[in-house]
Amino acid sequence: AVPVIDIDGPSASGKGTVAARVAAALGWNYLDSGALYRLTALAAQRAGVAWNDEPRVAAVAAGLDVVFGVDSILLAGEEVGEAIRSEEISSGASQVAALPAVRTALLFRQRAFRRAPGLVADGRDMASVVFTDAVSKVFLTASVEARAERRYKQLISKGIAAKLQPLLQEMRERDERDRGRSVAPLLQSADARLLDTTELSIEAAVAQVLAWARP
Ligand code: CDP
Repeated sequence: AVPVIDIDGPSASGKGTVAARVAAALGWNYLDSGALYRLTALAAQRAGVAWNDEPRVAAVAAGLDVVFGVDSILLAGEEVGEAIRSEEISSGASQVAALPAVRTALLFRQRAFRRAPGLVADGRDMASVVFTDAVSKVFLTASVEARAERRYKQLISKGIAAKLQPLLQEMRERDERDRGRSVAPLLQSADARLLDTTELSIEAAVAQVLAWARP
């Protein structure tokens, strides 16, 4: 089977950056599964489908017309790389992600990324649901304060006004929601290794994930 490395973890833990760099270092494919939930939320909004309308949102997810490029995401031919990162769509993504039929509809799409020579998969349930037979499973996290600060710096660097305290509060609330939901709650799989990046640089985190993946 094509080898997979699973990297799961909470919001702003740095897993996206780490997963993409690990994939580049190995020359493997990369799956940003969160992007699929974001695309589903955006496509539903554009089709006039409410985010809590489970059967219709699931149909939108199943029919997503998306092309992932090196530095682009095309939805029905239109670049949406920026649009899916907005606060509104972040909220929509977490709402549609709580619907079981939507998760089922996205399952085959996620598994389609498993192509030779290998795949690095980033998300919440890679280890527990989507790629349970991965060669290496990592749960990447950081303190809530460190994650809020990273998100803050990210927004400021993009010229977006932000305040640290509200971001920290928002991050705490999102953590609660992600852990508390009944469908695919955020938790460390029993067979995953914990990587806490609170005091770790991106380079060091990438090196650790690579070291764990090499037999
Ligand atoms: O990094 P951040 O949490 O801001 O976003 P993301 O990884 O792009 O995920 C967007 C939303 O999709 C989150 O609310 C997750 O709870 C959800 N998600 C999920 O349920 N399962 C996944 N495999 C990936 C994301």
